[in-house]
Amino acid sequence: MKRTKIRELLKQPALDTEVLVKGWVRTRRGNRNISFIALNDGSTIKNIQVVAETSNFDENLMKDITTGSCIAVKGKLVRSQGQGQSVEITASHIEIYGKCDAETYPLQKKGHSMEFLREIAHLRPRTNTFGAVLRLRHAMAFAIHKYYNDKGFFYLHTPIITGSDAEGAGEMFHVTTFDLAKVPLDKNGNPDYSLDFFGKPANLTVSGQLEGELGALALGEIYTFGPTFRAENSNTPRHLAEFWMIEPEMAFYDINDNMDLAEDFIKYLVSYALENCADDLEFLNSMIDKGLIERLRFVVDNEFVRITYTEAVKILSGSGRKWEFPVGWGRDIQAEHERYLVEEHFRKPVILTDYPKEIKAFYMKQNDDGKTVAAMDVLFPGIGEIIGGSQREENYDKLLARIREMNLPEKDLWWYLETRKFGTAPHSGFGLGFARLMLFITGMSNIRDVVPFPRTPKNAEF
Ligand code: 4AD
Ligand code: MG
Repeated sequence: MKRTKIRELLKQPALDTEVLVKGWVRTRRGNRNISFIALNDGSTIKNIQVVAETSNFDENLMKDITTGSCIAVKGKLVRSQGQGQSVEITASHIEIYGKCDAETYPLQKKGHSMEFLREIAHLRPRTNTFGAVLRLRHAMAFAIHKYYNDKGFFYLHTPIITGSDAEGAGEMFHVTTFDLAKVPLDKNGNPDYSLDFFGKPANLTVSGQLEGELGALALGEIYTFGPTFRAENSNTPRHLAEFWMIEPEMAFYDINDNMDLAEDFIKYLVSYALENCADDLEFLNSMIDKGLIERLRFVVDNEFVRITYTEAVKILSGSGRKWEFPVGWGRDIQAEHERYLVEEHFRKPVILTDYPKEIKAFYMKQNDDGKTVAAMDVLFPGIGEIIGGSQREENYDKLLARIREMNLPEKDLWWYLETRKFGTAPHSGFGLGFARLMLFITGMSNIRDVVPFPRTPKNAEF
């Protein structure tokens, strides 16, 4: 007999038929004569109730049906007499796959703290909360591919190991096969990378953008969706050392086209979650964040505010607030400022554009004012920056001048510069942090809790 997933069972219950289900016991209650077992198989947040009459089963077998144990149940699907479920299974056969010791199983009780659950990341997918988060993660990953595929974008696989620093921020993990206890040195006492695996310094990518641009300047519209790495020592609820990023890159898009795409893309993803993941969202809405579904709807239904950095600085300076980080033209916009704009001033997602060139990456298109670049950051409630992007500098001379001005390694970027020599084109793109998106979609408050196995400073367990 074939196993039926609980999700399928509940979708179209074939009453009075024999079914086989397999899963993990969430709870068991009852008395000497009868047991009610709540079984979950991960296919849905919902459990199926299994009713087992004690007299039909071996006494020892019944003893081993405890919270956390894994069982297979054969029985008849019937309309439920009890409250809280429409159907249940009257068990005729039960097999135990894996016992679960009640004394030592860490997930006995409900209501464990998120901090505690992080320490048992190998088991937390079995909780309702993490089950919901992980199913939503899957749904979003699928929706991302669907969105771009439907629009005719091509999925480009950019390298994970690179020889360049896409953001020019120097926050990279090195990749080497050197024995760190005896690194070969050159005559100046520096590591002799000519002897290393790649014959030059290499690192884990911080962004697929630069290679993404090469794709856009050939295929027109591409996107990447892959892991990126940042060796920044940021211990915040919004930063990971390893996270996935979605980076569309489009030929012939200016900054306005880029903003339109970013807004449409996020709205599509939020709508997709609302339409396809209602059970999990309702659970998170009731248990984690009472305002979640309302906030998701709000984002879909309202236009994002679009203002320039210069306008934002005026609003922030005139707010009468005391800031931890001072506000002023030329200074970076900090998380506290982003959240003020989004959560208090506008009460809507905000797209900030045209930042001073000094605080943005080298590749951004220089505006005619000589001071700002065609950057765009999308700021979200509860999160701050969720997307960073820009129109790219397509002019060879201007790009080269900026690379030199910023003392970036011109010779490592020869291939990037050549695209501006051979058939350059106006183009734009952005990066959406997948984990930050998941924070918004799930209402979870710490980025460590929307990633199955988070990587943060001093933590690479599991
Ligand atoms: O703003 P960032 O650094 O932009 C880029 O990397 C560009 N190359 C993207 C592009 O134009 N193709 O990062 C983009 C997004 C941020 O807005 C944020 O959502 C996320 O990536 N992000 C992080 N997410 C989790 N942990 C971190 N340490 C993150 N750093 C950036
Ligand atoms: Mg950014």
